[in-house]
Amino acid sequence: MKTKVGIIGGGPSGLMLSQLLDLKGIDNIVLEKHSREYVLGRIRAGVLEHGFAELMREANCGERMDAEGEIHEGFYIAEGGEKRRVDLAGHTGGNSVVVYGQTELTRDLYDARAKMNGNVIHNVEDVQLHDLKSDAPYITYRSGDDIIRIDCDYVIGADGFHGVSRKSIPKDVLREYEKVYPFGWLGVLSRTKPVSPELIYAKSERGFALCSLRSQVLSRYYIQVPLTDSVEDWSDEAFWDELKARLPQDVADQLETGPSIEKSIAPLRSFVAEPMRYGNLFLAGDAAHIVPPTGARGLNSAASDIYYLYHAMVDHYQNGDDTGLEKYSEKALARVWKAQRFSWWMTTLLHTFPDSIPYDQKLQQTDMEYLFSSEAALTSLAENYVGLPF
Ligand code: APR
Ligand code: PHB
Repeated sequence: MKTKVGIIGGGPSGLMLSQLLDLKGIDNIVLEKHSREYVLGRIRAGVLEHGFAELMREANCGERMDAEGEIHEGFYIAEGGEKRRVDLAGHTGGNSVVVYGQTELTRDLYDARAKMNGNVIHNVEDVQLHDLKSDAPYITYRSGDDIIRIDCDYVIGADGFHGVSRKSIPKDVLREYEKVYPFGWLGVLSRTKPVSPELIYAKSERGFALCSLRSQVLSRYYIQVPLTDSVEDWSDEAFWDELKARLPQDVADQLETGPSIEKSIAPLRSFVAEPMRYGNLFLAGDAAHIVPPTGARGLNSAASDIYYLYHAMVDHYQNGDDTGLEKYSEKALARVWKAQRFSWWMTTLLHTFPDSIPYDQKLQQTDMEYLFSSEAALTSLAENYVGLPF
């Protein structure tokens, strides 16, 4: 097989790029390790920044998001029995975020690919990347007993943190930066009415908690837990009790509880791989960087990678201009690091660190007091949360 752009990974990054390129007549193939059902079974975050929502519309995939997603113009930070609102719109000249599940968004992208007869190949095994430094790179994968070869101009590594693409870059070229946090998030999805129409990020001495939602009848809650905990340690009842203990009393009193539909623990990690280009391989999304979920930046840092790659490919194929491809890594990383800084900051502000010394706790307290005493600090939080420009 032959194509222009070979995309590894059928998560949001790979599918979005495939859809955008196809709309510009740029031939591409997506290779996904798992089935569509498996990919759509993963419960992921649910906040889209304005720029990502725009990209969905540009990809002709925004219809259901616009009909079913909720525009949020603010959120709350709770501490010490009180909750204070962060007015996103007021601090960003009217900007907002869209609450729409990443699972739904991925479904929309798959449907759009199917409608255009996009070439998305599932259940590919043993994907390998070859001759990345040459003008004729190619990808191989196994399908049953057959080894299939795809020749292409460019390879996109959009295969997530555990994918094969980043690992195909020689160790002496790749530099990895990583920070692992000493806790995880235990998340519960429940068919209950959300406790608040806007998200509540809660800091408490017992640890962080988050009240989020997917719709008016579907809630998503999280609590910070030690890395040594497992899901089996947490009955639904224990989860609800602990969540309530971390929320202001009036919020806890209104919390509707019910059986969990999904319950999982995710460790928190910050990670960046540099450079994001090696020869004719370009990394995008979780394949190149991970953020802790506190600032809702995961999908959104993937969005800017896709935006830059999409425009670079269009410039290459339609205008013979390679500046975008040459500048990709540098440009993408500049925004990636800003999302890293913000996610690290919000994580540090709101969580309980088991190894913190009294000095750290004083700084954390001061950070919070400063935030709500300064319009400049609130503006900084708001502009990062709604998403810095691409
Ligand atoms: N070959 C083919 N596909 C692979 C391989 C491989 N060797 N390894 C992984 N994949 C697939 C995974 O099965 C997955 O479907 O690549 C896809 C990567 O998708 P994601 O992990 O969702 O990463 P990405 O598309 O970059 O999405 C950005 O935003 O909210 C955050 O972390 C969250 O996934 C989210 C991310
Ligand atoms: C979620 O709804 O899953 C969610 C929302 C906001 C975050 C993280 C996760 O910061």
